[in-house]
Amino acid sequence: MTNSTHDAMHAMVVLTIHRGVGDGPTYTEQYELSPENTPSLLDGLRWIHRNVDDTLAFRYSCINANACKECMLELDGEVVYACMERLKPGHRYNVKPLSNKARFRDLITQIAPAKEQLQTSYPNPDTTATDDKA
Ligand code: FES
Repeated sequence: MTNSTHDAMHAMVVLTIHRGVGDGPTYTEQYELSPENTPSLLDGLRWIHRNVDDTLAFRYSCINANACKECMLELDGEVVYACMERLKPGHRYNVKPLSNKARFRDLITQIAPAKEQLQTSYPNPDTTATDDKA
């Protein structure tokens, strides 16, 4: 491996994260991370939360299993699952909450939990009106 290849593989990843509370003003914070700490975007966010700023708010549940769908946010304008996004050493990224959802705080937006979505898709038979009783 040449020195330049080695340098490229170890160049820092820069995340510019859009933060704020509710409808309040948005500000950005920039974090530089070693690529070893950011195999995925979610890993990077968790590393920042553990080591740099424990006030950074983001949502996840299953951690890199792509099962809970709670880690959705925008990376460079694209809607992504943070746990599935691989980050490249030496690259800079913009990280925002979902722009079509109400923001609670930082990267957390109002998304319906899976349980609620399921109830909407399959109405509870106990609460469904029927003509049988008439
Ligand atoms: S953390 Fe569950 S899908 Fe990303």
